[in-house]
Amino acid sequence: MSILIQGGTLLCPEGPLQASLRVEEEKITEIGPSLPAGDSQVIDASGKLVFPGFIDTHTHFEMNKGLPNETADGWASGTLAALAGGTTTVLDFAEPERGADMTSALDTWHRWAEGQASCHYGFHMTIKDWNPAVRAELADMERAGVTSYKVYLAYDGLMVSDGDALEEVRAVGERGGIVGCHCENGGLVNAGIAAQLAAGNLSPAAHPLSRPAVVEAEAVNRWLTIGELAGFPVNIVHLSAARSLEMVRAARARGQRCYVESCPQYVLLDDSRYCQPGFEGAKFVLSPPLRKKEDIDALWAGLQAGEIDTIGTDHCSFHFKGVKELGKEDFSKIPNGIPGVEHRPVLMYTYGAAAGRISLHQMMKLLSEQPARLFGMYPQKGALSVGSDADITILAPNTPGKITAAAQYQNVDYTPYEGMEVLCRVDTVLLSGTVAVENGMVTAPKRGRFVHRGASKFWR
Ligand code: URP
Ligand code: ZN
Ligand code: ZN
Repeated sequence: MSILIQGGTLLCPEGPLQASLRVEEEKITEIGPSLPAGDSQVIDASGKLVFPGFIDTHTHFEMNKGLPNETADGWASGTLAALAGGTTTVLDFAEPERGADMTSALDTWHRWAEGQASCHYGFHMTIKDWNPAVRAELADMERAGVTSYKVYLAYDGLMVSDGDALEEVRAVGERGGIVGCHCENGGLVNAGIAAQLAAGNLSPAAHPLSRPAVVEAEAVNRWLTIGELAGFPVNIVHLSAARSLEMVRAARARGQRCYVESCPQYVLLDDSRYCQPGFEGAKFVLSPPLRKKEDIDALWAGLQAGEIDTIGTDHCSFHFKGVKELGKEDFSKIPNGIPGVEHRPVLMYTYGAAAGRISLHQMMKLLSEQPARLFGMYPQKGALSVGSDADITILAPNTPGKITAAAQYQNVDYTPYEGMEVLCRVDTVLLSGTVAVENGMVTAPKRGRFVHRGASKFWR
């Protein structure tokens, strides 16, 4: 069975191209100006944008499983929402308990995802402990197709020491992988929370005050120092603030190789959201918190200048009713995280490409190519190239709509983007050569497979 996508603008690695693209079995087999239909099924993409399937390298499905603060989206709903929104691969975070081995955590995450996933998936591994046994497991992880890791410089129970982080970056770097970091200074965050509570500030409005941008920027600078000393590239996840980007700029000016992820929420939503009446602000409690308009402007400028490498969502959805409400009397008890896996492509198209802030080519690089390169999937994924996997997302531009929780696939009782206008719609998605979304509706669920990843392919 082959499929011919005709008449659209292909977002190819070299730039946009008016051409046709043929898919046979699970691969892209031909790209050319006017390919004959032959006996291929024809998809008319006239006036539409054809992207390599979008990749979201930052999701948390089925997090805190079994606890009162379990995430709303599990593997079934999270990946269904991802696919409906045009994302064909997600990388989620497997997380061992402190003191437990990574292999068991990986087995658990495999068990949860297998048979449930509607898009392809892989895992980063969170490192909480550092000792000879964990170091030895890096080889097992590599054999199992896990080549990227996350460490935290904040959160009691999660954060690692600077010395351990240094060794982790070195040990992972020597194997060709990469470590990403949650950059907030944990000690200062704890002090900030204590100060707000002592002052009687108990509402969500206290959340951004307890962990201001400088607390992130310090940790970004420290993480970059760790990377420099280790002698390997590092990744900064969910960067939110202008001051943090300044640290990155300075490090790069000195010749350091480092990579930056930001997220739609940090370029679209500001900290005024925390000051809404009642408990509404809890819908926006995540860490790092939403920032100021100046930060948003700086991040868009960073995107335009190519200083930001990937856009992930940090999708970590908690129901407002009953779960965010765990922090009704004390903002520090509000589970941290917001949903977004479904809406990243349409938001980045609308407020990025269509608004003239980034080009379509940049959008393709931020949402497909660079995530695939950084996390060892390129050019199998992230490219409209002959030989690449036929994971393909077709967007229909000039199709206005509105984001609403009522219309979403995400299994959560709100969206932080409620009511926001969008200017495109996900038309068709091919997952490994099979049409899985038609007219924005998922038609072939639960066909996702594990992506066995290799070494990072650095480009800067
Ligand atoms: O608030 C957030 N971001 N929750 C998800 C976990 C993380 O730190 O990425
Ligand atoms: Zn984080
Ligand atoms: Zn996260």
